[in-house]
Amino acid sequence: SRVEYLNYEVLSDHGWEVDDPDLFEKAAAADLAPDDYGQFLAQPGETLLEAAENRGYAWPFACRGGACANCAVLVADGSLDSTVDNILSDDMVADGFRLSCIGRPVTEDMRVVYNVKHLPGLDELRL
Ligand code: FES
Repeated sequence: SRVEYLNYEVLSDHGWEVDDPDLFEKAAAADLAPDDYGQFLAQPGETLLEAAENRGYAWPFACRGGACANCAVLVADGSLDSTVDNILSDDMVADGFRLSCIGRPVTEDMRVVYNVKHLPGLDELRL
């Protein structure tokens, strides 16, 4: 899977909203640092978090087992195979939040906003 990623922390710097349909196009045009925006290829079997780490990126995590939400991402395009049997509420899953430590990319292309752990609803889930 080709994963296009964006660090949630840069959104406020640019006045971008997380639900902006042109968010990734804006990010692509903004000359962001490679840690904040870019693409990598996830290998079969890698979780999204492992894929990021194995390509040299330091994304947030703590438990690595679906129990703390520190690793949460917002999936804007594509899918992870993560089960619904995790700490995220049904509403959050419906809104596109997933846990990168247990989800493996299953679509050819993915767009994810990582580092969303401080968003309302996730903050209180963190250990
Ligand atoms: Fe704790 Fe993913 S690192 S849920």
